[in-house]
Amino acid sequence: MAGHAQALKEHSSPPGLLGHFVRANTLDETVLGNLIQMVVVASYDLGGLCVWLLKHVADDPMIADFARSHPAGGAGAVRPALAIVRETLRMEQSELLLRVATRDIVFDGIFIPRDSHVRICVWEAHHDPRIFDDPFRHDCRRFMGGGVGAGDYAPFGLDKHRCLGVDWTHALGEVFVDELVSGFRLTIASDGPPEFGRFHFQPSGRLAIAFTRVPITEP
Ligand code: HEM
Repeated sequence: MAGHAQALKEHSSPPGLLGHFVRANTLDETVLGNLIQMVVVASYDLGGLCVWLLKHVADDPMIADFARSHPAGGAGAVRPALAIVRETLRMEQSELLLRVATRDIVFDGIFIPRDSHVRICVWEAHHDPRIFDDPFRHDCRRFMGGGVGAGDYAPFGLDKHRCLGVDWTHALGEVFVDELVSGFRLTIASDGPPEFGRFHFQPSGRLAIAFTRVPITEP
């Protein structure tokens, strides 16, 4: 690994996990495998989110109008582009979390014996009409002004294993939406039912979106 550390020194790069493990001399096959797994899965997650964002922005012109709006700020205010990202994650990219009980536990009055496989139904919770009014409608206003409680919304998982890429995903999603709506008008040219991709449901392979340039709007 000394050669890798030297190579990192010679090509000064921004701080990163790989560099950290090389410098600490703790890079082994397990660490490398975990890093690759993290980057590959995260790239599918981010890529999938971007395609869903494209579809929703193209599907409903009001979403783009909302992204271009500048509602009054204030405590707990959320930027429209972030609200669109969060609503898209709620509708389209929340599936399930899997756990195995390592000991007998009682959760909410229910006995779960050791070694049980537990499926935490995030998709179902995100589409529960008792929590989200009209749950199959894309309505980013739900996320304006802190309308959704942390206990009702978990696209990034829960507790100790919550996704490490939350802030990154939100920031990239926001930039993506801002760029789309400030430079283009999007319309659906063709579409079909969602399909199951490598890891997640994704828009139909028949989805095609027409981009029309519009004059850049100043913020
Ligand atoms: C649309 C984007 C993303 C979604 C929906 C997402 C979703 C999730 C979910 C649901 C979990 C929890 C899995 C579980 O508890 O079983 C998770 C964990 C994780 N995510 Fe993400 N993720 C996204 C992007 C990213 C990005 C960009 C990175 C960083 C490169 C990342 C890194 C991780 C890591 C390292 C974990 C494991 C955390 C741990 O077990 O302690 N994710 N993600």
